[in-house]
Amino acid sequence: MPAETITITDNRTGKTYELSIQDETIRALDLRKIRAHDEDFGLMTYDPGYTNTTSCKSRITFIDGDKGILNYRGYPIEQLAESSSYLETAYLLRSGELPTAAQLGEWTKSIVSQSAVPSFIEGLIESFPVGSHPMGMLISVLGALSTANSDSKHVYDVDVRTKHIHKLIAQVATISAYAYRRQSGLPLVSPDANLSFSGNVLKMMFGKTGERYRVNPVLEKALDVLFILHADHEQNCSTSTMRMVGSSEADPYVSTAAAAAALYGPLHGGANEAVLKMLKEIGTKSHIPEYIQRVKAGEVKLMGFGHRVYKNYDPRARIIKHTAYQVFETMGTNPMLDMAIELERIALEDEYFVKRKLYPNVDFYSGMIYQAMGFPVEMFTVLFGLARTSGWLAQWEELVTDDDQKIGRPRQIFLGSPERKYLPISER
Ligand code: ACO
Repeated sequence: MPAETITITDNRTGKTYELSIQDETIRALDLRKIRAHDEDFGLMTYDPGYTNTTSCKSRITFIDGDKGILNYRGYPIEQLAESSSYLETAYLLRSGELPTAAQLGEWTKSIVSQSAVPSFIEGLIESFPVGSHPMGMLISVLGALSTANSDSKHVYDVDVRTKHIHKLIAQVATISAYAYRRQSGLPLVSPDANLSFSGNVLKMMFGKTGERYRVNPVLEKALDVLFILHADHEQNCSTSTMRMVGSSEADPYVSTAAAAAALYGPLHGGANEAVLKMLKEIGTKSHIPEYIQRVKAGEVKLMGFGHRVYKNYDPRARIIKHTAYQVFETMGTNPMLDMAIELERIALEDEYFVKRKLYPNVDFYSGMIYQAMGFPVEMFTVLFGLARTSGWLAQWEELVTDDDQKIGRPRQIFLGSPERKYLPISER
């Protein structure tokens, strides 16, 4: 059997080094012994955006970007979207196994019963000016929740972790709905423990005070499917942020706030909002070829296309496209869907996109569904974050229970000035 090692020759010195290979990786620290001279710090790797650096060993989510495969704890996303529920998927992500009926009942009861947020949080939401961006509100309020849950800093106590994971999964839904209501200048609608997780989200968002809210089962199922699809995606920007902040032993509330902040950017969770803006800018199908030319000239990006990991059709985009049709059948068609389908068709036949393996990602269609359901564009990333909270927390717990992990602290290549003497202002 060939040795699981790699031999590196340093041409600066002619020395060779044998490094062991484990799980198809080498240990970055093993490179340190490669030195050109005695004072040399040792070899490091340069990897902006961590495109080829593994930061952890994980057992949660598996992605094969070339084949377009996404599994949570071994279960294909297609099967979970078809047969599971968001809360069951959240349980799976955390525990590693699908729950029994009794376990699911207990998990659901515990989460649903903790949906109400402290009254000062309601006051805080109501202190934001009407029209405030709900992502800003979500991030701030997640941080503020830390103050009401000071025991959550005991991150190595499994009972404490369990309590706050349940609370966070429940309360992020309430905060998200409240952020939408405040943005729209509407009174807050309290959580309803008699509804499903997604049904409750719909009621808190769209319920009217004093009126019975009837949950539309098609929208309830569609929202639940979107939440399942968004629940985890291994070491992306926001999850890595969750792990980075968590690595300092910060509590899960502030870590989740940081992860949500990372999600806010248009290259990550903000892309679904950007897709709708792009479709609006294109305006009509006849303008698509012109827009594609602009993309190819490097003037603009085709939002909702491309992915760091998927170099094939994002499996979530396929499911979402199907869900979009179901929602539009209930809510009426959206001319943007026709445009999106045409845009996808043209792009997938174009050499520029084919050569770069650029396919629609999860965000290409999700914004259209959210819009058809009545959510304003600013809420799209909030809904993404609401669902991703279960994944962030599963990843965070994996981090804090992993003996290999240390506080995150990358290195740099310093290219700045060598040491120099401070000059008084009069001499500069
Ligand atoms: N439109 C046009 N060209 C693109 C796009 C795009 N959406 N995405 C990548 N490319 C091109 C790049 O310009 C580059 O071309 P080049 O080789 O001629 O320089 C090539 O494809 C490779 O792209 P990279 O930027 O190296 O890919 P990277 O992995 O760094 O970026 C990203 C991935 C950020 C998702 C990128 O594809 C993008 O910006 N897409 C649009 C935003 C988007 O939809 N984000 C959502 C991602 S999914 C999520 O976060 C849930």
